[in-house]
Amino acid sequence: MYAIIGASGNTGSVVAGKLLAHGEKVRVIGRDAKRLERLVQAGAEAFVGNVTDAAALTQAFGGAKAVYLMIPPNPAIPNVREDQERVSDALVAAVQSAGVEYAVVLSSIGADKPDKTGPVVGLHNLEQKLNGIAALKAVYLRAGYFMENLLPQVMIIKSFGVTGGPLRSDLKVAMIATQDIGAAAAEALLKLNFSGKQARELLGQRDLTYVEVASVIGKAIGKPGLGYMQLGPAQIKPALVQVGMSSNMADLILEMSESLNSGYMAPLEPRSAQNTTPTSIETFVAEQIVPKFTGKAVGA
Ligand SMILES: NC(=O)c1ccc[n+]([C@@H]2O[C@H](COP(=O)([O-])OP(=O)(O)OC[C@H]3O[C@@H](n4cnc5c(N)ncnc54)[C@H](OP(=O)(O)O)[C@@H]3O)[C@@H](O)[C@H]2O)c1
Repeated sequence: MYAIIGASGNTGSVVAGKLLAHGEKVRVIGRDAKRLERLVQAGAEAFVGNVTDAAALTQAFGGAKAVYLMIPPNPAIPNVREDQERVSDALVAAVQSAGVEYAVVLSSIGADKPDKTGPVVGLHNLEQKLNGIAALKAVYLRAGYFMENLLPQVMIIKSFGVTGGPLRSDLKVAMIATQDIGAAAAEALLKLNFSGKQARELLGQRDLTYVEVASVIGKAIGKPGLGYMQLGPAQIKPALVQVGMSSNMADLILEMSESLNSGYMAPLEPRSAQNTTPTSIETFVAEQIVPKFTGKAVGA
């Protein structure tokens, strides 16, 4: 049996779905039974619990041959880093007390750095804490920038006629669709062919600047020449708070953006067949951005 944290989310739902399709037993963990129902219909066992509750997680991990771990985002909380430490403490305590042997862990580019990477510091610390469990075999999937981060651009394009954000317009970013992370995690869980503690970078199909992304979106929505504007913290922070982030989370996002812009936060490996994943920006835009822009489902 496999236990999956964040099973109703972007990556966890793909992990759980692929394991179920492979005929595996899967325990899906989340706070809301309704959001887990689709996976239960597909054969999973639901476990309703909170990632801050070590005792519940110990129960959830009991009997699992491997687990999928993540720190779920909690962008509205006033102190994000404190919350992340609370979650990683609970995950680590549960892995230890349930005697989990294998973990596939969602991490990020930049998790090699102990500071200045905003929310990614929490993932660095999660990796460090798991390194302290000698008997655990773990792979840290250090994913690039999620293509799903582009979804709010739909609203920005509709309001201002351009795309915008804190990243430099000439910065090449390894952008990855979360379905590719889920697929890589499921493959690692099925094979369990890792030992010790390993980091594995997942860099998406190719590196892209926001200007290139804007061009792909523009062509797909019938606005050729759609541009990108780099915005400063004074413009970005109020916009992030307005969409529901705490002031602290907005500051951490800006800190991370600065580290991406300066090159402090970057992949460590050159691009290779091992860290390249299939979904292109053209596919992501066609499947996720265009339907959101037009309000029509794919194929409708
Ligand atoms: N955005 C990026 O560019 C990027 C890049 C690299 C790494 N990451 C990392 O990726 C992770 C997010 O992955 P994702 O997109 O797959 O997540 P996601 O789609 O946001 O899903 C999070 C899941 O966790 C569950 N959850 C939330 N709070 C919970 C709690 N307190 N207790 C139990 N379950 C809870 C949610 O379900 P319920 O609400 O039903 O409980 C949801 O299914 C974060 O750790 C982030 O740092 C992000």
